[in-house]
Order: sequence, then C-alpha cells, then structure tokens
Amino acid sequence: MSLNFSSFRNAVSPRKAPEPVPVPEPEIVVGLDIGTTKICAVVGRRNEHNKVDILGMGSAVSQGVNRGTVANIELTVQSIKQAVAEASARSGVDIRVVNVGIAGQHIRSHQQRNMMTRQNRETEISKADVNRLLEEMYRVPQQAGYEIIHVLPQDYTVDGEKDITNPVGMSGITLEGMFHMITGSVGAIMNIKRCVELSGLLINGLTLEPLASAEAVLSKDEKDAGVVLVDIGGGTTDIAIFHQNIIRHTAVIPLGGNIITQDIREGCSVLFDQAEALKVRFGSALAHESMANEVVSIPGIRGRDPKEISLLTLANIINARVKEIIQHVQYEIRSSGYEKRLSAGIVLTGGGARLKNIKHLFSLMTGMEACVGDSNGHLSQAPDLIKSPVYATVCGLVLTSLAKLENEGASSNGQGNQRSGGSGESGGDSGPSPVREGLLERLLTVLPGFFMDPELGSKNSPHRG
Ligand SMILES: Nc1ncnc2c1ncn2[C@@H]1O[C@H](COP(=O)(O)OP(=O)(O)OP(=O)(O)O)[C@@H](O)[C@H]1O
Ligand SMILES: [Mg+2]
Repeated sequence: MSLNFSSFRNAVSPRKAPEPVPVPEPEIVVGLDIGTTKICAVVGRRNEHNKVDILGMGSAVSQGVNRGTVANIELTVQSIKQAVAEASARSGVDIRVVNVGIAGQHIRSHQQRNMMTRQNRETEISKADVNRLLEEMYRVPQQAGYEIIHVLPQDYTVDGEKDITNPVGMSGITLEGMFHMITGSVGAIMNIKRCVELSGLLINGLTLEPLASAEAVLSKDEKDAGVVLVDIGGGTTDIAIFHQNIIRHTAVIPLGGNIITQDIREGCSVLFDQAEALKVRFGSALAHESMANEVVSIPGIRGRDPKEISLLTLANIINARVKEIIQHVQYEIRSSGYEKRLSAGIVLTGGGARLKNIKHLFSLMTGMEACVGDSNGHLSQAPDLIKSPVYATVCGLVLTSLAKLENEGASSNGQGNQRSGGSGESGGDSGPSPVREGLLERLLTVLPGFFMDPELGSKNSPHRG
C-alpha cells in the first residue's frame, strides 16, 4: 500500500489541525560588479510578484582595475570591502556570498559542436543525454592559459534534423549540440577570485558581464526577436547578441568611456577630471555646426589663464572615438552571422550609454534601432538610480544569481547571506573557505540534477557551498 503524506498525518494525529507548512524565507543574493571605474555590490531578493526588490547597494571608486581586469589586488580589495560594507549597512544583510561579474579584454568566445551516438532509437532522448553533451564540453582542452567560464547550449540536431531547441523526449540515434563557449585567462580569473576571497567573501558564481546586463534590461520578447546588448563601461564595451531567446555571440572590446575622456584631455589640454566633467556635462556623440558658437570656460591650472573650449571641438573629439567603438560593434554583429535577424535592434547600457546622442549615432551608423536600456522591467522596489543603465550589470548579477538558485530548487541554503542578527548557521562563521574551483564543483553548479539522475545511478546530490 502506498502511504501518502496526508494519510500518514491523520494516522498520527487524527484530531489535530494540520501543522502549517512553513513558507521558506526568500533567498537573498548579492551581485558584485568589479568595474573599471566603480565597484558596486547590490543585495536583492525575489518578491511575490516575481520581480526583484533591491534591499541595498554600495559603491566605491575603482582604482585597481584596468580595462575590466584586476591590475592591483590591494586597491581592488579596498574598494570591494568599501562597497560591500556600504551595501551591508544599507540592507541590514551580513554579506558573505556574492555572484561576481567578469569581463576584460582576455575574454574569448567561440562556437563548438559536440556529438553522441545513442545505443537505442526506441528510448527517448533524456535530460541526462543532453546534460552529458554539455558536461563533456567542460572537458574540452582550451588554449594554454585559458579556462572555461560558461558553456551555453544553442541548439541541437537529432539524426540530421537541425535547429531543435529541446531534444528531450525525441527519439534518435545521433544527438548533436552546438555550444557557445566563453573562456578567460586563468590568471585574470584567479586575480578576481583572490580579490573577492581577500575581501572575506565566497563566490557562488562568475558571470560574464554582458550576460548579466542583458538579464537586467532585455525582455524575453527582445531576446526572441533578436537583439544586440552593448554595455559601454569605463574600460570596455561588452556585447551580447540574442536570437530566438538563445545567446548567439559575445565579445569584449577593450575601449570604453575612459578613452573618450583621455582623448578630450589630450585634445583640449585639460586635466583628466576636467575632461570627464566636460564629457558628462557638455559632451555629445553628434557634432552640429551650431555648436561652434557655444564655449565652455575651464579654469587654468595654478593661476594660469582659463581655457575656452568650443562645444563643437568637444563633440568632434567624442564623435571620432564613439564612431570607432561603433565600428567594432558592427564588426561583431557581422561576425555573429545574425546581422539580418536582429529586429529588436540595439540596447545600450553602462555609463557610456548616458552620453548625449549616443543612441542616435548608433542608429545612424548601423541602420538599426537603438535605445538605452534600464532595469525597470525586472526590478520592483529600487531607487531610480539603480534602475539606470550604469547599474545594469550589477542588477543583472542579482538576477542571474536568483535564476540559478531557482533552477536548482531554492531548498538549499547555499547563498549563506544572512540578515544581521541571524542565527549564523548557514555560510559558516569560521571565515571564508577557499573559492570553489575545479570541474566537479562547476558541474555541481551548472548541472543541478545531473548527479541525481537515476540513469547514472549516483545518489550524490548537488551541494552548494
Ligand atoms: N552622463 C554621461 N555622459 C557620458 N559618459 C558618461 C556619463 N555618465 C557616465 N559616463 C561614463 O561611463 C563610464 C563608466 O561606466 P560604467 O560605470 O558602466 O563603467 P564600469 O562598469 O566601471 O567599467 P567597465 O564595465 O568597463 O569595467 C565612464 O567612462 C564615464 O565617464
Ligand atoms: Mg561595467
């Protein structure tokens, strides 16, 4: 006789009202964006309307990061600690575990195929078959000094039939998968992990920054229709191209807002901070002759005469560099092979997206519709500043962390971030343990359920650190 839960309850306590099932506390997650100009931490959790409430954020000026890559561990650790302490104080959450963003010019991506021959056409293709294809990709040797960050399934081919998004349940002998592989320099990844670890934190995920930004600002419809996400940061411009809800192409261009500021500094012979202020307050990606009559006066250094800078000169300097950045973006769009299938156009994020007229220049040069993205669609309770394109990456890191948890079944308490005054049970209080590394740990994160598949005969369940 099968014993179900309700009959068991009645047999033990026939008169007592059933105990209320405890509603699990929503998981609290933290995104940490180690950017070239700012390092920020954001604490969030899913609310009952399936949106995300931001509980608090902290930000610090980034001094140890160069074009998205850690160049000075000590300075980076200082800024991480400052940003995390501020986010912790504002949210009342004792931050221990973070989802960290990764970018930088060391990031590479390529497409790779994997194929398996199944024994029997009679049995359906199982989730385990699909997972096995994915798992094998993590073992594919990479170029010396590079390691895999993400393996993102694209589509499958079953017995020669192409463009299958989910082959589970189909019958077939040969199963072939196409994967988007994202790799990064072992040294650069290790430096990020070291900085986070030295800041007293554990990493529960490393997410490519343009994927995080895309998560924050794009809708499912846009990703389905075909869209290019362009995050223009201080040091790099990151790209992610989606079509039919699948990531098709990623790239990191080692040019961002800082190089525009440097051009202004040199072109106008002013200090870097003055050049930055000129760009933010008076800059424009498009130049018009009418600007020739408008000038800004910049105080001279140590008593020297003030400098008069024409807005036309300023716009011409900016325009030249932004055009160069857009040409790189165009090259990436073309090499993705999806140039003609991106009907949702271009969505801009990052601080650079705030440059006046930048979306117009993108539209003019690419012939595609361009707009500036924000996280309004995904966030609920959050200050407007956090929803702005500048914080798209860090908000996306919160969203990807939540999505991962939800995929895995939020029953695990692996996040370990605690409200202050909590019991201190999860996350451990003996200080941070080493950051999880290696294939097995990665598989446990990427393939929840894989090790529980009865077909594999293993009882190991994924355990989150
Ligand atoms: N209003 C504005 N107009 C023009 N540029 C702006 C404006 N606001 C911010 N920026 C530029 O945005 C850049 C910083 O963007 P962001 O905060 O996204 O970079 P980051 O995440 O620190 O860097 P990265 O992602 O490259 O590592 C700076 O170059 C800054 O000058
Ligand atoms: Mg950034």
